[in-house]
Amino acid sequence: MDRRLFVSDLARYAALCAVVPNVWRVTSRPRFADDPFQLGVASGDPTASGGVLWTRLAPRPLEPEGGMDGLRTTVTWEVADDEGFTKIVKKGTATAAPELSYSVHVNLDGLPADRWYFYRFQSGGATSNVGRFRTAPAEGSLTPLSLGVASCQHWEQGLFTALGHLAHEEIDLVTHLGDYIYEYAGNPRTVRTHAGLEIRTVDDYRRRYAQYKTDPHLQAAHARCPWVVTWDDHEVDNNYAGLVGENGFESVEQMRTRRAAAYQAWWEHQPVTVPRAQSWADLNITRSINWGALARFWVLDTRQYRDDQACNDGTQLMCDGARDPRRGLLGAAQEQWLTNGLGASRSHWQVLAQQIMMAPYDAAPGADVRVSMDQWSGYPVARDRLLNAVAKRAPNRTVVLTGDIHTSWVNELHSDFSRPDKPVVAAEFVGTSISSGGDGAAVTVQRFDAMKRENPHLKWFENRRGYFKCTVNADSWTTDYRSVAFVEKPDAPVTTASSWRVTHGKPGIIAV
Ligand SMILES: [Fe+2]
Repeated sequence: MDRRLFVSDLARYAALCAVVPNVWRVTSRPRFADDPFQLGVASGDPTASGGVLWTRLAPRPLEPEGGMDGLRTTVTWEVADDEGFTKIVKKGTATAAPELSYSVHVNLDGLPADRWYFYRFQSGGATSNVGRFRTAPAEGSLTPLSLGVASCQHWEQGLFTALGHLAHEEIDLVTHLGDYIYEYAGNPRTVRTHAGLEIRTVDDYRRRYAQYKTDPHLQAAHARCPWVVTWDDHEVDNNYAGLVGENGFESVEQMRTRRAAAYQAWWEHQPVTVPRAQSWADLNITRSINWGALARFWVLDTRQYRDDQACNDGTQLMCDGARDPRRGLLGAAQEQWLTNGLGASRSHWQVLAQQIMMAPYDAAPGADVRVSMDQWSGYPVARDRLLNAVAKRAPNRTVVLTGDIHTSWVNELHSDFSRPDKPVVAAEFVGTSISSGGDGAAVTVQRFDAMKRENPHLKWFENRRGYFKCTVNADSWTTDYRSVAFVEKPDAPVTTASSWRVTHGKPGIIAV
């Protein structure tokens, strides 16, 4: 602990005690009546020399302030070479403060590259569970990567069994592509019920995160390795676009306030670095993460900066509004940052960690074209502009990771989907959901064939819950889809439903 801070806190504490004598009585008892670490620990955004460690004090997670008492609280943290913490390599203290819901974000630096560590927190005599964390490989290194990809974990629609399996995989990193929480009011006729009404205020969002974070499978998956997290719509409001809410009748002031609440609570509960924004309503989470020279992750936000969905949102016949070339999904600044970056980066693989399906999906048979206006399909000019940039700057070494739609898809991405003769330039792996949508169902050969007739770039489709695992080296990218047969009851085993490979520098995705 910083000595000056300690002395000044001690002086302030002594002054406080002189005025309020019963403070002595309170602190003479153990600080917490209940375990303050019930939300677990997490780490994220690894660099070659550090990353972020996270926890939040919440002795009674669903109560106001998580059961805390309004006082700032000191939390110590330790990073060790061994699980028994006999070889501590770094330690320090942080202050958990009520204005940030007693969350703790430790920015680690000065550690050697490409190494695993263990970490834990302590406060008021209580000790957290132990998390594993690793630094990224050194700049220039082609050390292979084993990556887990998850998204969409609706508390009410299923158990997080798949995250429990993810926690047992040999992986270096997890990318979570959003819908980490859902905003809806509690429904008693579900697998397990959300606490409270639809969430709108910062305290509502905090309580919802607290409820989700009590899940033991989610905690185990966080403790397993660092995560790189982005958000999708349900961290705020279903299908919101910029400052337009789901229902369209919210005022700009209401949406800005709701976004500020949602974005702040997101930051408080995720292992991410200090926000870059003048206000929480404008929190910019786009960032890039390097895995040595092997892979560069472009962590995208396709919600905050998008133009409103065309043609009343939903799945609609293609319309002129959707084709308006002025409409975008990333916003001009993010699009430029990404396309310039793809050109400048010398990383072996370029990885787009983003939310919505990039490949078009035509749901109408025959000549009609019916697409989801919420996906890249509803912004076809912006999609083809981005894929054209991929074709020029990082062809056949770009992989798009997608969440959002609660089904698994393997898609070959062409440089311009308005011209089917244009070459394949990238691969898209769409993960299913951890629990959203419930158990799922088998897909018949007839159904898949009908889908493929309208969408020849589609290689595979499945409607089961799970995640996918990517094994990446300089020559190839292999994706294994890991599925569970049910989530509405516990203990489903995990199986590999299918496996796919992209060869560096070659177009296309092949089954393995
Ligand atoms: Fe979702």
